[in-house]
Amino acid sequence: MTAQPANPLKHTPSLLVFDSGLGGLTVQREILRARPDARITYLADDSVFPYGRLAADVLVARVNALMDSHIPAAQPDVVVIACNTASTLVLPHLRARFPDIPFVGTVPAIKPAAEHSRTGLISVLATPGTVARDYTRGLVDSFANHCRVQLVGSSSLASIAETFMQHGDLDDADVAREIAPCFVEENGRRTDVIVLACTHYPLLIDAFKRLAPWPVEWIDPAPAIARRVNHLLRERGFADAMPDTATQPGKAIFTSGRTPNAALTHVLAERGLLAP
Ligand code: DGL
Repeated sequence: MTAQPANPLKHTPSLLVFDSGLGGLTVQREILRARPDARITYLADDSVFPYGRLAADVLVARVNALMDSHIPAAQPDVVVIACNTASTLVLPHLRARFPDIPFVGTVPAIKPAAEHSRTGLISVLATPGTVARDYTRGLVDSFANHCRVQLVGSSSLASIAETFMQHGDLDDADVAREIAPCFVEENGRRTDVIVLACTHYPLLIDAFKRLAPWPVEWIDPAPAIARRVNHLLRERGFADAMPDTATQPGKAIFTSGRTPNAALTHVLAERGLLAP
């Protein structure tokens, strides 16, 4: 008889991925690439969307309440807060409230942007909430002191991305207007790196590239977040997903209780998520 290892590796991790709306799908997609074996519950707080305009105390209370009701049902091995607006505020609260569960946040990728920039002019495209946070200012002070950092808070881009995902409508002039403040020219130098610091924005990356006044590097932190999730799962005793692992069916939950239209149902299905 062969002796069993004391701690056999675990399989099929459960993950809870959370955002105010559809933006977190940009993170969920990368996680699914890294962990096709994961059972993902995608939670979208669309009844309160957009988070970018909420007062800090209201947002903390809202996310705490949602986690209180959804963590017991999803039984996640890791929770991913796939929202910069929430992560830059609520992570310490959630870690204190659920000390046994690892939380992975999504915060502006200012460090890699400062490392990649050759001109020293970088921009952070986020929601008004994220650009106003002490946390974001702290990242600039710690990692980009040698750069000129333009913080741009858009109050409409997340909604534009939601409409685009559900109805395919996109007004180029609206998008061009919202990204324009990111492009700075100063003493013969130009912005060369822009951080996508709202998870909704990678949904519009094709339009951003097409409408940019000059080419820049756009930084999407989703692949780095997926690597972090995988690392935490390994630490918690999960075997790596085999390359040919079949995707586990996950589910999407919308706090509004709505039924997604055909286009959104298709987007969810592409990401292995069953519509509610
Ligand atoms: N997707 C969210 C973020 O990363 C927020 C969009 C919103 O609800 O305002 O910041």
